[in-house]
Amino acid sequence: MSWLITGGAGYIGAHVVRAMTEAGERAVVYDDLSTGIAGRVPPGVPLEAGSTLDRGRLDEVLAGHGITGVVHLAAKKQVDESVDRPLHYYRENVEGLRVLLEAVTAAGVPSFVFSSSAAVYGMPDVDLVREDTPCAPMSPYGETKLAGEWLVRATGRAAGLSTASLRYFNVAGAASPELADTGVCNLVPMVFERLTGGAAPRVFGDDYPTPDGTCVRDYIHVVDVAEAHVAAARALGTRPGRDLTLNIGRGEGVSVREMIDRITAITGHDRPATVTARRPGDPARVVASADRAAAELGWKARHDVQDMITSAWEGWVRQHPEAARH
Ligand code: WQD
Repeated sequence: MSWLITGGAGYIGAHVVRAMTEAGERAVVYDDLSTGIAGRVPPGVPLEAGSTLDRGRLDEVLAGHGITGVVHLAAKKQVDESVDRPLHYYRENVEGLRVLLEAVTAAGVPSFVFSSSAAVYGMPDVDLVREDTPCAPMSPYGETKLAGEWLVRATGRAAGLSTASLRYFNVAGAASPELADTGVCNLVPMVFERLTGGAAPRVFGDDYPTPDGTCVRDYIHVVDVAEAHVAAARALGTRPGRDLTLNIGRGEGVSVREMIDRITAITGHDRPATVTARRPGDPARVVASADRAAAELGWKARHDVQDMITSAWEGWVRQHPEAARH
């Protein structure tokens, strides 16, 4: 099959491209390069610049490359920005998806994998979040991902498109230093930035109802997330009429305090953390049940938190060479 990877020049998308090509699938990248980086696309993989809002360009690329499946990652993904700019997020994430699905169904492409998020659950009050746990997103970002899932499923049913929505939990790490995340929007890079800038890492609240009082999350290596896409793409490619919604996590909770302790041990930048106020909207605990993805795809995460932090740190040092000298 020939897969169009939208957002394939982004952090997670570039890992998906790498995993797909390593698995012997043909990949074409479609990216507007607003945050994507052309240099992340490996040699031999075509890079088509374009927006998911541009129907004409999509038609041209889908036909020109004989695309038979789409993995759609192109989206805006900053929760706080989505609160300030909801119209922008709905346009990029929902309208962009709607236009893409129009092009996909018009071209008769049979398979569609959608990048969703644990943000659809909001503040789940359960130990392990299952795919049938009620969704109650807490931000416009999470809303656009849930609305996206609905749009994907409804279109799949109406047009006979085989679909999968993958709900990623907290993604970290890198396959190699040059593919590392360049954003500083999540716990691991935010702690790197504080430590290498000579500041104490911050714990956003230690009075949560968790064992050490700090928030618990399900961190997952980006290489495992990428491999889940390969497994989903293959599951759809071989079985038409599918409609999958899957958590992509490890099923293991790690607290902010534990993460910071591991980060200081791995980086050698040992500075005690400061506890600050809670960040509004943060749930105490969000940990996946990973059973359904295992049953449906035969996929399971292989990498642990140590691998995530070590590989993320190698990427950070590559981007900030002065970080290694301290
Ligand atoms: C993790 C924990 C913070 C920085 C978000 C989105 C989610 C997904 C991943 C999507 C929280 C705490 C953080 C710091 C801290 N995004 N923290 N000190 O909020 O779980 O999930 O990113 O595409 O949808 O909601 O991830 O990495 O921001 O935070 O204490 O300096 O670390 O409060 O408990 P989060 P995160």
